[in-house]
Amino acid sequence: MTDAFGPPTAERLSAALTTGWLGRASEWLPSCASTNDLAGERARAGAPAGLVIAADSQTAGRGRLGRTWHSPPGANLYLSILLRPSRPAAEIPPLTLLVGGALARALAGLGLAPRLKWPNDVQLLDGTGRRRKAAGILTEMSSAGDRASHVVVGVGLNVNQIDFPPEIAELATSLRRARGGQPLDRVAVLAAFLNQLEPMLADFERVGPAAAVRAFEAYAALPATCRVTAPGRPDERLQGTALGVDPDGALRLQDETGQIHRVLSGELHT
Ligand code: BTN
Repeated sequence: MTDAFGPPTAERLSAALTTGWLGRASEWLPSCASTNDLAGERARAGAPAGLVIAADSQTAGRGRLGRTWHSPPGANLYLSILLRPSRPAAEIPPLTLLVGGALARALAGLGLAPRLKWPNDVQLLDGTGRRRKAAGILTEMSSAGDRASHVVVGVGLNVNQIDFPPEIAELATSLRRARGGQPLDRVAVLAAFLNQLEPMLADFERVGPAAAVRAFEAYAALPATCRVTAPGRPDERLQGTALGVDPDGALRLQDETGQIHRVLSGELHT
């Protein structure tokens, strides 16, 4: 697929940013194994917070729960953001919710109607009114004692892809599909997201996870009935009604006996 907007570059991104520090340094690679791995390497070598590593394609893109992230060239955004938050390590996981909130705000600003599925999916409506996944977030932390020495937030966002491989064809969508086939400039989409995210990260630094939960809830789609499975244990399932998200990012689920469970990690099936 060719990109009608010209190749994404650090210069084009800089020109579209209104941020002070986020995304001001960026690397755009034709291909790499995983931008999260590369951002981790840069972090260990001392790179500053705000660095964005983006690739046109990935050969080993990773999703949550050990899944592969489908990363073909020429169409989408695969990027990782290096952060060095000062909050305690225990407060870092809800950052995923904050980043989802920033993505949703950016997409809403582009005229789309995003919804967030706990904990890390951004969904858009397809032509038949069903919600499909347009983006996923993978937050990885390296900690030193009770502090995070660095955090890498990886985002895979389907921007201009129209056709998906059979195994995800029923589940995935893209911004272009949601806009009736109209393509978007990947750099403009990334800048819109980073411009939203920077002030939200300042909020997170000040307030902590509650800021992330607020940002998430503004776009959350909490299903009336759902099932949650634990990572790697598909047989252990919890069924009930999603009531909301606790201040620490845990999903609150009420089962059929009325008991309320706090789910810290897992997969939501609707
Ligand atoms: C998920 O929904 O499971 C999370 C997907 C995260 C994918 C992105 S693509 C850029 C970054 N590099 C990776 O290897 N993964 C993340």
